[in-house]
Amino acid sequence: MPNVVDDIVAEVAALCRENRDGAVADYIPELASVPADEFALCIATTDGYVYESGSARTEFTIQSISKPFTYGLALADNGPAAVAAKVDVEPSGEPFNEISLDPVTERPRNPMINAGAITSAALIHGADVAERFERIRRCYSRYAGRELTMNDAVYLSEAKTGHRNRAIGHMLRSFGIVTGNPDDAVDLYFRQCSIDVTCRDLALMAATMANNGINPVTHERALATEQIERVLSVMTTCGMYDAAGDWVARVGLPAKSGVGGGVLAVLPGQIGIAVYSPRLDAHGNSVRGVQACSELSKRLELHFM
Ligand code: DON
Repeated sequence: MPNVVDDIVAEVAALCRENRDGAVADYIPELASVPADEFALCIATTDGYVYESGSARTEFTIQSISKPFTYGLALADNGPAAVAAKVDVEPSGEPFNEISLDPVTERPRNPMINAGAITSAALIHGADVAERFERIRRCYSRYAGRELTMNDAVYLSEAKTGHRNRAIGHMLRSFGIVTGNPDDAVDLYFRQCSIDVTCRDLALMAATMANNGINPVTHERALATEQIERVLSVMTTCGMYDAAGDWVARVGLPAKSGVGGGVLAVLPGQIGIAVYSPRLDAHGNSVRGVQACSELSKRLELHFM
């Protein structure tokens, strides 16, 4: 029997579906052909129940939503002090792909912008890119509760055109933030961004964060509780880039967006929310993703800050 959350999810989905604002990302050629008007909204609870609406099982690439998960793995591999020596936790107010370091600390300002995310990728342990990627893929799969795979076409498309990220990688190498081969770090970053997920997967990944790092369906631990705390803090202040302030005011939850059209948000101890809608705003955030989270936050009184 449908409960009140089912009704609210259906209501918010119906409202947002009407919105045709924004445009799909086309700077990665393969993303230009995604179906612009697809829409899905899912909520997963920390006791493992999933509410689904729309194309909840359609796959799309995770893109920047990968950043908090790789940051968490970097914390687990290296410890918080070693990671903090390489990447700060300050909001940047900058676009996600800004070629910048903090002029005082000479570190990327946070792990959610590309400079910080490529730094996190460079900190992942493993003998080579293949082994590091396999550790990342398995880590994301534990959050989702199923085996995730990489979308080769999107990876190859970004690898062919991602000169700005290569410039960021070489900048990081020249400042001693990345100490190994910067092209390997950028290649690993392209691969993690190309992992396919569904809206349902993202909701369960968010619910795993809400559940202190334990997947609420498989009961497998994806990350230690203290590292989850650090990841959620950075998502709160930096997850939506130069729209982070507006997001916190409107939605009030730790979150992360990706140019594939996904957005996830976390209400610690309670639920994970995910939206899939490929049309993006000027910040690279899903238009209907922001709208749906804002509507849900209002109707379910989720604003916890
Ligand atoms: O760095 C890039 O260009 C992409 N692979 C990921 C960027 C992204 O998703 C930004 N988020 N909204």
